[in-house]
Amino acid sequence: MKLNQNESPFDLPPEERALLAEELKAVPLNRYPDPEHQALRQSIAASAGAAPDMVVVAAGANALIELLIRWACGPGDQVLTVSPTYHLYGRFASMNRAELIDIPWGPSFVLPVAELLGAVGPRARLLLLCRPNNPTGHLFPAGPVLELAERFPGVVAVDEAYFDFCRDTLAPFVGDAPNLVVVRTMSKAYGAAGLRVGYALAPPAIAGSLRDLQAPYGLGGLTQVTATFLLRRPHIMERHRGAILANRDDLARRLGEVPGATALPSATNFLLVRTDCSADALDRYLRDRRILVRNVRWEDRHIRVSVGTPDEHAELAAAMRAFHGERDAEQGT
Ligand SMILES: Cc1ncc(COP(=O)(O)O)c(C=O)c1O
Repeated sequence: MKLNQNESPFDLPPEERALLAEELKAVPLNRYPDPEHQALRQSIAASAGAAPDMVVVAAGANALIELLIRWACGPGDQVLTVSPTYHLYGRFASMNRAELIDIPWGPSFVLPVAELLGAVGPRARLLLLCRPNNPTGHLFPAGPVLELAERFPGVVAVDEAYFDFCRDTLAPFVGDAPNLVVVRTMSKAYGAAGLRVGYALAPPAIAGSLRDLQAPYGLGGLTQVTATFLLRRPHIMERHRGAILANRDDLARRLGEVPGATALPSATNFLLVRTDCSADALDRYLRDRRILVRNVRWEDRHIRVSVGTPDEHAELAAAMRAFHGERDAEQGT
């Protein structure tokens, strides 16, 4: 059971897959695809309410975050973020020999605006915020982000990988704020993690220079057509999104039945669970039973669980209760 990567439990329904197969049949494999990704960028622009020249596409939000760091930072430059957050930011910074500066969340996961501004030095180039945040699942207000965009000397990038689950976005401010960039993905609510499509919305000048830094033909023709197909059928995403939100309540209810586990409120398709035991030990126990969750390695007291199906939630909760029972028996409590 795979509840560790915040994927969608729902794949494309068979009747839609048959329609997609028809469209894919018409894609020539012997010709290079559109290097400008025009049809896809137009579909994204229409769905995000932006202009096509503000859209940059790449093989997943990961590729866009790495691109942003590569574009903004030379060796030794700094990327600021608020942690705990998406664990790959550090990897993408070090790939570019940039330094990641981690500022901890304030009490109750408040955005630490003063601390972030206080950490700005001459080499600060990029502020990377995940909103809603992974792995905490919380949505922080937009106002302080806009305040930071005004006062931060570099680019402020907001990773909205989980935007579809909360519909709270900074996209309408992109362009008015000259240094604000939003990054999104089709891996979550669109159920297309295997497709590898993400996009950034950026002021046209920034979007143009990001595109200039990409190798040509970033996305293959089959990928471009599939992503456009999905964006033209938002009802599929809406249906799956609705089911995921309902399943999130089911997961919270199931976890509520596990002694010692507290699921935090979430604006995403996953729940952060605080445990009263070692998260390492719990993760190992679940893994031995072929249940994959994410050990977020935070105080050894947190696991992150993706929203799955009610059957999966019941099995997970039963395993967590069994772990708790065995631990209590060992401790003689
Ligand atoms: C916050 C965040 N950003 C980016 C990504 C990666 O998205 P993609 O699959 O589009 O590369 C993830 C995936 O889990 C994520 O949680």
